[in-house]
Amino acid sequence: MTDTIKILHVVGARPNFMKIAPVMAAVRRWNEQGTAMLDGLFDHVPPGYSPFVRPPFPSRIQRIRLEQLLVHTGQHYDREMSQTFFGELGISEPDVNLGVGSGSHGIQTARILEAFEPVLLEERPDLVVVVGDVNSTMACTLAAAKLHIPVAHVEAGLRSLDRAMPEEVNRLVTDALARLLLVSENSGLTHLLSEGIHPGRMYYAGNVMIDTLLSRLPRADRDLPHTLGLPPGHYATMTLHRPSNVDDREHFDEILRGVENVASRIPVLFPAHPRTQSRIAEYGYDGRFIRWQQGNPASQPGIYLMPPLPYLELLALNRDAQMILTDSGGLQEEATVLGIPCLTIRENTERPSTIETGTNTLVGPHADRITDIAQSIIDGKYKKGVAPLFWDGRAAERIVAYIIEWWTSFNRHEFPCN
Ligand code: UD1
Repeated sequence: MTDTIKILHVVGARPNFMKIAPVMAAVRRWNEQGTAMLDGLFDHVPPGYSPFVRPPFPSRIQRIRLEQLLVHTGQHYDREMSQTFFGELGISEPDVNLGVGSGSHGIQTARILEAFEPVLLEERPDLVVVVGDVNSTMACTLAAAKLHIPVAHVEAGLRSLDRAMPEEVNRLVTDALARLLLVSENSGLTHLLSEGIHPGRMYYAGNVMIDTLLSRLPRADRDLPHTLGLPPGHYATMTLHRPSNVDDREHFDEILRGVENVASRIPVLFPAHPRTQSRIAEYGYDGRFIRWQQGNPASQPGIYLMPPLPYLELLALNRDAQMILTDSGGLQEEATVLGIPCLTIRENTERPSTIETGTNTLVGPHADRITDIAQSIIDGKYKKGVAPLFWDGRAAERIVAYIIEWWTSFNRHEFPCN
């Protein structure tokens, strides 16, 4: 007899799309290849990780099939923040779009809860898979938990230890309620254990964002920097959208003063999030940027302001950049794997492995620090990095293996109370 696990995946905002794409692809691969997909997946596990690396028993899993559905909450809705990624990353059209749109945190969360519950009641999935730390992640976890539907959280255990960040609240709530905590880096295990969470809920998977990066890298246009007229290896890319950086005018001004110092030496490409574009208009900062026009070279020093870029274009630019300036979580990880120096414009990071072993440095919203660290990169005095365990392109396959392990385990119906 075949046993089918019905999985409902949730996406809502831009960084979710790169994370769900490899998980959905790994589900398809399992259905096609079965246990052959597991070959080499769990080799070379360092001793400290072995309690959290629990492959399924091959004898129990032969006949497991996976069915999957995709729900898009509609938290991000602009073409350039959402649809464009579906085509590029090979994600199927969502089966359901909740169309919640923008709103305050309370309104957005409430709308998702209200719209997602009937989908759960109608579809009755065996498992809901959520990724990352956005409002959609938390709201859908809460709706499922209230209906006693198990949740798997991809990228569990990350903590900035800063509860003023909306994402930190989302992470705490999601990890408290999810049954399967799928961890991407060592600090995730440490945080979950220190919060008293039962180790039986924790699995070390590695980083799905890197699965996407490694699988898409060959398709990223090698000639794009040249097409834009960029001096090879002598330009920077920048993203900035955190409320603490752009909604606070003083911080934004201070950051820009630092970046202006960098941009007096090399071109800085700045694909700006809608929130950031709004603040630039509101603060009258337009004059601090060169408005990038399609077809015009970005060869001179300066900050080139442009709309958000498709995934493959940003990847093509990041690959050959001299440095990346960012307040995004995912870019810190991508920079480490690409081996590009990364200046994180925040006081903390929930991804400390990118600093400990990777190419990342925290510079805060401080003009002097941005200037000094960028200078050390330009002078060739910056550190080199290595990627953490299982940032190897196969994290999503491990996640599918862990879902099957959980499904076939004797205590599947038990939810450890912590
Ligand atoms: C959200 C996530 C954040 C993630 C970021 C990546 C939360 C709490 N935050 O932040 O973790 O790093 O996405 O992009 O979930 N807007 C548009 N078009 C869109 C989407 C948003 O114009 O397609 C505008 C909204 O009207 C709003 C602002 O951008 O004014 C912020 O959108 P919102 O989804 O609230 O949060 P983000 O800042 O994008």
